[in-house]
Amino acid sequence: MIAAIIAAAGSGERFGAEIPKALIQLGDRTLIEHAVSSISSVADQIIVTAPAGYEKQIQALVGDGISVVTGGATRSESVRIGLSKVSSDTEYVLIHDAARALASPALAQNVVAALKSGDVAVIPGLAQTDTVKVVSADGIVTSTPDRNSMRKIQTPQGFTYAVINQAHAASGEATDDAALVESLGKPVRVIAGEERALKITTASDLATALQFLGKSNTFKTGVGVDAHHFEVGRPLWLAGLLWPDQDGVEGHSDGDVAAHAICDALFAASGLGDLGSNFGTNKPEYAGASGTTLLKETLALIEKSGFKISHVSVQVIGNRPKIGSRRTEAIAALSQALGGAEVALLATTTDGMGLTGEGKGIAAIASALIYSK
Ligand code: CTP
Ligand code: MG
Repeated sequence: MIAAIIAAAGSGERFGAEIPKALIQLGDRTLIEHAVSSISSVADQIIVTAPAGYEKQIQALVGDGISVVTGGATRSESVRIGLSKVSSDTEYVLIHDAARALASPALAQNVVAALKSGDVAVIPGLAQTDTVKVVSADGIVTSTPDRNSMRKIQTPQGFTYAVINQAHAASGEATDDAALVESLGKPVRVIAGEERALKITTASDLATALQFLGKSNTFKTGVGVDAHHFEVGRPLWLAGLLWPDQDGVEGHSDGDVAAHAICDALFAASGLGDLGSNFGTNKPEYAGASGTTLLKETLALIEKSGFKISHVSVQVIGNRPKIGSRRTEAIAALSQALGGAEVALLATTTDGMGLTGEGKGIAAIASALIYSK
């Protein structure tokens, strides 16, 4: 029988969030949920120490099979409270920090294997790469221990039930449990630790942990182009705005080339087809649809595929209308249709050359940068 205690009752003062550290989100789960999966493959009983007032929330996250108890004022106190709940037929106890959320199940398995081969206390450790100095209260170095004989110690730490009970019997205080076992004069075995079992203390540690999860953002770009012929008598819709007293353009929808170019840029970036395949003539429900409606629909489609918009830019190409005086208004309309995304709007003529230079219509080119987590 193997019991595991997860120390999660700290407030996370150095992290500086409004919630306890164990409830911080790392990728798709909270730190406490990650920590449970670090040790669940070896533990028959799991006890979590929670900060006072957060017991129910943590219980809901970890599920019914796990005991949640209120922790103590210090980490050692919390561990003792956890120890008192360990079932009496337990052979080995693993003690793990919720803050070391990404310790792999293999690490816990290696700790247990060393216990089974006869060690009474087993702790993971990494080589100390920095030189460490002992410094007096007034800031003077008193010694430089040999770095080669030092290890940076992690959790989960494993002990025989008898030894860890004896170590905590005197109500000692230490930053890890092995230190209390060392005071008893018992041998503590160090096995190879893991970089990914780093202790998450600050926001920058959380960013490092995210890299271990491979959860940095993936960015994708796309380009879209649209052009429509002027059609006398139709209203002109462009960049999400109605332009009174201007000839409109022909088209299945309202003919807003800026909006359509942006939709295609978003489709190109996300690999979800194009304007025609998503809203084309075979989709009669989009006949006459406004540019902003199509932008909203496109946004919904790319979000459904897990993407978010980082930035969109569109350049209108044509002799008229003149965009400049309504640029801010148009950017606001496009951005609103895109859920508040950052939008840039530019305009140019083509020096009398080509389709739009001849004054036959309006074109637009857009680019989009999107990302997924
Ligand atoms: N811990 C605990 N009970 C306490 C204090 C700490 O169970 N009274 C736990 C923390 O939840 C953490 C682990 O011990 O998982 C290691 O402590 P640390 O990383 O220092 O976390 P916090 O104490 O929460 O952070 P801080 O010191 O910045 O407040
Ligand atoms: Mg602490």
